[in-house]
Amino acid sequence: MQELIKKIRELKSRKNAVILAHCYQNVEIDEVADYVGDSLYLSRQAAKTDADVIVFAGVFFMAQTAKILNPTKTVLLPRKEAGCLMADMINHDQLIEFKSKHPGMPTVCYINSTAEVKAECDICCTSSNAVKIVESLHADEILFLPDTYLGKWVETKLGNVKVTTYPGYCPTHLRIKPDDILSMKEKYPKAKVLAHPECHREVVKLADYVGSTTGIMKFATESDDKQFIIATEKGVADRLKRDNPNKEFILVKENLVCHNMKWNTLEDIYNALAYNQYEITVDKEIAQKAIGCIDRMLEVSK
Ligand code: 13P
Ligand code: SF4
Repeated sequence: MQELIKKIRELKSRKNAVILAHCYQNVEIDEVADYVGDSLYLSRQAAKTDADVIVFAGVFFMAQTAKILNPTKTVLLPRKEAGCLMADMINHDQLIEFKSKHPGMPTVCYINSTAEVKAECDICCTSSNAVKIVESLHADEILFLPDTYLGKWVETKLGNVKVTTYPGYCPTHLRIKPDDILSMKEKYPKAKVLAHPECHREVVKLADYVGSTTGIMKFATESDDKQFIIATEKGVADRLKRDNPNKEFILVKENLVCHNMKWNTLEDIYNALAYNQYEITVDKEIAQKAIGCIDRMLEVSK
């Protein structure tokens, strides 16, 4: 593995490439990544990089967003199978139909959506800035898609905005049931429960802290507590264990993984750099429409 890491680092500097890795990736990918974080952090890095090549160790919508932000750069997704089941729950036509049922309402899309969908929305958001983005619209009522759970969590947090949601969801986060939390709490009564807002509402209600991937990691790292039940993808617990050996992190249920996020291996990253694969392209017209939606988010959450 050390030899492969060395070869990736050499190729990376020869090609003036940057590697962006989401916290749900296999943990060894951090050895070659320049930036590791949540969706917002990575899109900020993508927006300001001066590298010629961006390798996105994540899923398709992330690499596609990076390409929209960097039309002249080469953006690579090491495994072309790495999609997002939630993003695939709404396409352009389904969005148009959803909007036509609620005419005239501001439309917010989660960054976990395709370029075609972003092109028809007013602004996008990630889990770490969703509340701020919806607030920035100063509207009484908005449409939110595709994640119904993130949308409803934002509605609860704000209290004064009606959020009409599309019925999309993350299958990984929905695997967590309220009973999983309750039985873990019984086993570890002192542990704090940290949950992602993509979780079911009944799960979120049982959490001590709700936030994005980076939010959860920051909370656990800075907290004086020593034991945490982690209600999100396994990659977060793996990194927390690695970085906080004096604390205990219990993944709320076994094998809580997003299989799409786990496709990428170090070997795939090497192949991506060596053979320029798999290059992401976005239709020019769609990209031009979608960039406004992403830029507005970056502006609001500066
Ligand atoms: P964040 O990176 O915003 O925490 O979102 C998690 C996720 O599911 C990414 O696909
Ligand atoms: Fe999509 Fe859920 Fe996987 Fe994130 S964890 S990439 S939302 S399927």
